[in-house]
Amino acid sequence: MIRIIPKPTDTPEDNSTQMVLDALDTLNAQYELLHLNEINPFRVPCKGDLIWVCGIRQNGVEFEQIKALSLTNRLVNTPDAIATCASKVMTSALLCHHGVPTPETLFTASHEAVEEFLIKHGKAVYKPVYGFDGDGIFLFSDISDLAEPPYYIQEYVRNDRDFRVFVIGYNAVGAIYRQSPHLTHNIHKGGVGTPVEIDPAMREITEAAAKAVGIDYCGVDLLRTDDGYTVLEVNGTPNWHCMAAPIPRLMAEYLVREEESLKK
Ligand SMILES: Nc1ncnc2c1ncn2[C@@H]1O[C@H](COP(=O)(O)OP(=O)(O)O)[C@@H](O)[C@H]1O
Ligand SMILES: [Mg+2]
Repeated sequence: MIRIIPKPTDTPEDNSTQMVLDALDTLNAQYELLHLNEINPFRVPCKGDLIWVCGIRQNGVEFEQIKALSLTNRLVNTPDAIATCASKVMTSALLCHHGVPTPETLFTASHEAVEEFLIKHGKAVYKPVYGFDGDGIFLFSDISDLAEPPYYIQEYVRNDRDFRVFVIGYNAVGAIYRQSPHLTHNIHKGGVGTPVEIDPAMREITEAAAKAVGIDYCGVDLLRTDDGYTVLEVNGTPNWHCMAAPIPRLMAEYLVREEESLKK
C-alpha cells in the first residue's frame, strides 16, 4: 500500500500533494492519506507500506512521528535524509565529505573564527542552521551584524541567479533558474523561476549531492562559478514551482516503482 502524508503548507492554489495524487489516479495506483495528527508513535498503525512524506511541520512532534513510522515502513524520503537536509551543517558536512563542490563555509561559536573568515573573504552570507525559503539569510561584513552563535557563514558567490534542480532516484529530472533583485532568489522571496535545460555539469553535481545525502528525491540549489556549479543546499521536502518537467507524474511513477520493489 502507498500511504501519503500531505504537505501541511498546501493551499488550494498550490497543492503539491494533490498534484501527485492526481498523477497516481492517472496510473490507477491505490493509495491512502495518512494524517500525522492521528498517529500514535507507540502504536504504529501500518507495516510494510511505502509512505511518501510530502512535507512535515518543524514542530518537534511530526519528525518523531515519521521516525516511528519508519520502524515498520519504507519512507520516502527517509527521516534521516529529511533531518540531514533540514540542517545546513549536516548537509555541508556530507557534501564536503563526499567531495561535492560547495562554497567555503564556517560553522562556529567563535567570534575570532568569524573575524578571520571576514578578513579572508571581506563579506559573508549568514544562514540560520535550520532555515528555509531564504528566511533569515543576509550578507554581512561586520561581526556586529550577527546575534548569538552558532554561526553558519558562507563565502559569498557573486551571481545574478540561482538554480534549483529536481532529482529523483539519483537522476536529475528538471531544473529552473531563479532571479530576483536581492540576495535570496527563492520563489518565496519573490524570485521568478524559469525552466532551463539540465546541462552535463548540472546533472553531475546534483546527482552527486543527492548521493552524498542518500536521498530518494530532492531539490538541489546551485550557484554558477567560473568552473561549473557549487551546491548551496539539498531540500528534502522540495516543491517543483515553475518546473517544465512533469514532476508529479515522475514522483508518482517513482512511488509506484518503490512500492512494487517492497513486495519482491
Ligand atoms: N553563498 C552564497 N552566495 C550568494 N548567494 C547565496 C549564497 N547562499 C545562498 N544564497 C542565496 O540565498 C538563497 C537561499 O539560500 P539557501 O542556502 O538555499 O537557503 P534556504 O534553505 O533558505 O533556501 C539561495 O538560493 C541564493 O539565492
Ligand atoms: Mg534554498
